[in-house]
Amino acid sequence: MTDRITLRKPDDWHLHVRDGAMLKASLPFTARNFGRAIIMPNLLPPVMTVKDAIGYRERIERALPDGSTFEPLMTCYLHDLTDPDEVEAGFRNGVFTAVKLYPANATTNSAAGVTDYAKIRPVLARMEKIGIPLLMHGEEVDPEVDVFDREAVWIERRLRPWAKDFPGLKFVLEHISSKIGVDYVRSAAPQVGATITPYHLTHNRTDWLGWGNRPYLYCMPVIKTEADRLALVEAATSGDACFFLGTDSAPHPVARKLAVVGSAGLFNSPVAIEQYTRVFADADALDKLEAFTSLNGPRHYGLQPNTATITLERSPWTVPEQIDIDGPDERALIYRGGEQIEWRVVS
Ligand code: NCD
Ligand code: ZN
Repeated sequence: MTDRITLRKPDDWHLHVRDGAMLKASLPFTARNFGRAIIMPNLLPPVMTVKDAIGYRERIERALPDGSTFEPLMTCYLHDLTDPDEVEAGFRNGVFTAVKLYPANATTNSAAGVTDYAKIRPVLARMEKIGIPLLMHGEEVDPEVDVFDREAVWIERRLRPWAKDFPGLKFVLEHISSKIGVDYVRSAAPQVGATITPYHLTHNRTDWLGWGNRPYLYCMPVIKTEADRLALVEAATSGDACFFLGTDSAPHPVARKLAVVGSAGLFNSPVAIEQYTRVFADADALDKLEAFTSLNGPRHYGLQPNTATITLERSPWTVPEQIDIDGPDERALIYRGGEQIEWRVVS
């Protein structure tokens, strides 16, 4: 049994760090173990312009611990009126790494997302031409579509046609949650890649709802069946280049998580790399971990892998329950808080 593993420094290809006090409190957990992260643009108001992204990047850089070499990779929040010239300008001057599509009302802070898919075609055409990837919250929010089928319907209605219409455009289907998603991404690679979260690899919907409602397992896309979870574990641990790490760590204040209409998203960056390592160890696939955490993502984005390394050891520790956020009554609970976690980052 392997008890120690050294990896090229991972990157997080899907991260929410919020803003203000929450940014300050949550960012250090990512900065200590990850070289880069795709910073999701779903602030209120969202990061829609080059100017917004420059300002947000500066706030992130100011929130970094002293001496950190962490690099935030900024994204542009797509909406019906996004100007292709704005996307191109942001890409050419090194501000935008990717464009993020939220269907309107699919998830947290997505009300300003896309409502009319015909309107964004000129942006997609420009993105194809200049070579900037499209990241998708891939869920169809038509009220006739069951919430457990949103990913599958998105693939059929949107992604499959776009991949044909824009053959030079690179896609990432974010936080895939189903066997249908896994099968589609494999069939469409290398044009289409996918991020996989630690919690979709770990839980099924019975864990979420079967013994009490656990709001801290409520995220979008919702956690699905055991068969879906097993397909995701097989995908991540296969080493296939189209699957890579994206934590979707998404802190919310406790009051928002526990409201009558609770917010989707869970805060896992304090335990993310440790939890992925556990999933790979349990699947007897630690030899495939580095491809998933550190190599496949950069390749999909056309970037070099990190040169630094991190080392993990099997050495249990207890995860803190929460982080305190500056400000009245603010705190965010941590995924797996209070539980023992098997792996620890030692350097
Ligand atoms: C994310 C958030 O809170 O910003 N929530 C989530 O359930 N995953 C948004 C997202 O990625 O869907
Ligand atoms: Zn997300």
